[in-house]
Amino acid sequence: MDPLRVGIIGTGRKKERRDAQGYFMAYEHGQAWQEIDGCQIVACADIVEENARAFADAHGFTATYHDYREMLDKERLDAVSICTWPHLHQPMALDAVQAGVKVIHCEKPMADTWRGAVQMARAAKDAGAQLTFNHQRRYGRPFLLARELIEAGEIGEVQRFECEFGNIYDTGTHFIDMLSFYLGDRARGKWVLAQLDYCREDKVFGAHCENQQLLMFEYENGVFGFVYGGAPGGKRPLGVVNRIIGTEGMIDVGAGHGPHEAIRWRKLGERDWRQPDTHGESIHGPGFIQRAIRDAVECWREGRKCQLDAENALVATEIIFGAYESSRRRGRVDFPLDEAVGNPLREMVESGDLKPGTPEA
Ligand SMILES: NC(=O)c1ccc[n+]([C@@H]2O[C@H](COP(=O)([O-])OP(=O)(O)OC[C@H]3O[C@@H](n4cnc5c(N)ncnc54)[C@H](O)[C@@H]3O)[C@@H](O)[C@H]2O)c1
Repeated sequence: MDPLRVGIIGTGRKKERRDAQGYFMAYEHGQAWQEIDGCQIVACADIVEENARAFADAHGFTATYHDYREMLDKERLDAVSICTWPHLHQPMALDAVQAGVKVIHCEKPMADTWRGAVQMARAAKDAGAQLTFNHQRRYGRPFLLARELIEAGEIGEVQRFECEFGNIYDTGTHFIDMLSFYLGDRARGKWVLAQLDYCREDKVFGAHCENQQLLMFEYENGVFGFVYGGAPGGKRPLGVVNRIIGTEGMIDVGAGHGPHEAIRWRKLGERDWRQPDTHGESIHGPGFIQRAIRDAVECWREGRKCQLDAENALVATEIIFGAYESSRRRGRVDFPLDEAVGNPLREMVESGDLKPGTPEA
């Protein structure tokens, strides 16, 4: 079997500390691709030449491009990783599909608009390409343990989720996606009602992200979701990223960042929490991205649906953009969300309806 020829779009630049201006995720992807038998990174593209060159040197190849479209034209790629900021995901995915690339692994969030997310999913499907998103927590032991407990019936029937995180776009794309995962990807959202606060400008990887939010939504199977995050002063009214409440018990995921706070659960009436062994894994890793990209490749090779695919990613994405639309309309938004919806949060900032002040120093 010929190796898959892999190209990386947006290499980033390694620096001491990762932050919202540069996380150099391409290096995580690079390591993952290198560890998979039959995959070879052959080229990369970045508008900053020294970034591309440094990435190529670190991964043992020479072909670098300033224009990713030229790379797509010349390199006959089988696979690409898209590791640029969110506003570039959709045009780059469309160009990769157009160039005939069949395995496209894109960083989260899907796109910077709902319209764009729908378009890229449709284009990939029509072309028979596999488009996946890096919701890598689906491969993390704390999350897998939570799903195993649900599937074993330990907490009875799931009734509702409660969630708390900073914003629903950059962080929420992971932790709202996990709700779909706990439900076995068997339910789409039905409606969402939301309000948000955006008094202080916060741009994460170039995208406006609200400071505080309150969401209520329902899935088609009758399970409810509640999100309340970003309380002032760093307060955490819930204290976990995902709480799963069932008729006979509950599970908390992400009470903190360490492995010992990754998951706890108890049955109805029990006072003490039970703490399953996560084998040293926290809600952040290690190893999740390697497993995610390996699974994307194996699914492609075996012709199986990948759980990271666009169809699954759209479920959380619809809730996120639906929540922004609900806040704009001051009312409940029923799904399917109108495909014409763009990014209501950004549009409210651009129109002056929302006037976030300068960020805190
Ligand atoms: N999955 C996760 O846990 C996770 C964590 C952090 C960030 N992310 C996501 O990863 C993505 C990338 O963020 P990052 O901070 O790693 O990026 P980065 O800033 O480190 O790197 C992006 C690179 O893209 C390049 N670039 C910009 N425009 C380009 C163009 N037109 N063509 C080619 N290259 C171009 C930039 O020069 C830069 O080198 C974002 O969508 C972010 O949300 C995911």
